[in-house]
Amino acid sequence: MGQHEHHDEFSQPSKDRLFVHEFDGIQEYDNPMPGWWKAIFWGSIIFSVWYLIHYHGGMGESIEQEYNSAMTQVSKLQAEYNKKVAARTGTKALKKLVGKPEVLASGKKVFTTYCAVCHGPDGGGKVGPNLTDDYWVNAPDLKTIFGVIYNGGREGKGMISWNGTLNLKQMQHVTVYVQSLRGTKPKNPKAADKKDEKYFAPKKGKK
Ligand code: HEC
Repeated sequence: MGQHEHHDEFSQPSKDRLFVHEFDGIQEYDNPMPGWWKAIFWGSIIFSVWYLIHYHGGMGESIEQEYNSAMTQVSKLQAEYNKKVAARTGTKALKKLVGKPEVLASGKKVFTTYCAVCHGPDGGGKVGPNLTDDYWVNAPDLKTIFGVIYNGGREGKGMISWNGTLNLKQMQHVTVYVQSLRGTKPKNPKAADKKDEKYFAPKKGKK
C-alpha cells in the first residue's frame, strides 16, 4: 500500500544517488543544497570580504566618514538657507522699508486686522503692552520687533508666533508700522509695567 503514490525522485531511491560508504547498514543519500541556496552562501562570504576591506581596511569611506560628510553637507545647506532668510528679514532688509508710505499703509492694515484687539487700534495697549511708549519687554528695534512677531512673546503671555498666519511681507510691513508707532500719542495709553518692562531712551526724530 502507498507504494505507487509518490513517484518523485526523493521517494524513489536510486542506486546512483546513494553514497558508497556505509555504517551499520545505514547508507547516506546524496541530497545537495539547491543552487540558489549555495549562491547566497558564497555570495555572502564574498560580500563579507569586500565589506571588511572596504570599511575596515581603509579602502572606502567608513560609515562614520559617510555620516560626517553628509552632515557637513547639511550644515552647508542650512547656513545658505539661513543667510537667505536673514537677507530678507534682517535689519538691513527692514531698514529699506522704513518710512515708505505703501509699506506703512499695508502694515497698518495688518495691525488693524490682527493686532489691534490686544494692542489697541492706535497701539496704546490693552491685553498686550503699549507699543507707543519707551517701556518694552523686548528691545524696540526693527530686528527684535520682527523677532517677537515671527517667534511670539514669552511662553504663556498671549503673544503668539504670527509666522504662518502672516506671510513674510506682512510681518515685515507690520514691523515697520509698529516701530513707527513709538513716540505717538494714543487715546488711552496703557501704563507701563515698570517691573516687567525696561526703559529705552526715546527714539530721535519723533513723529
Ligand atoms: C491675543 C493678544 C495679542 C495679539 C492678537 C497680538 N499681541 Fe502682541 N503681544 C501680546 C502680549 C500679551 C505681549 C507681551 C508678550 C510678553 O510679555 O512676552 C505682546 C507683545 C508684543 C510685542 C513686544 C512688545 C514688547 O514690549 O517687547 C510686539 C512688538 C507685538 N506684541 C506686536 C504684535 C503684532 C504686530 C501683532 C499682530 C500681528 C500682535 N502683537 C498681536 C498680545 C497680543
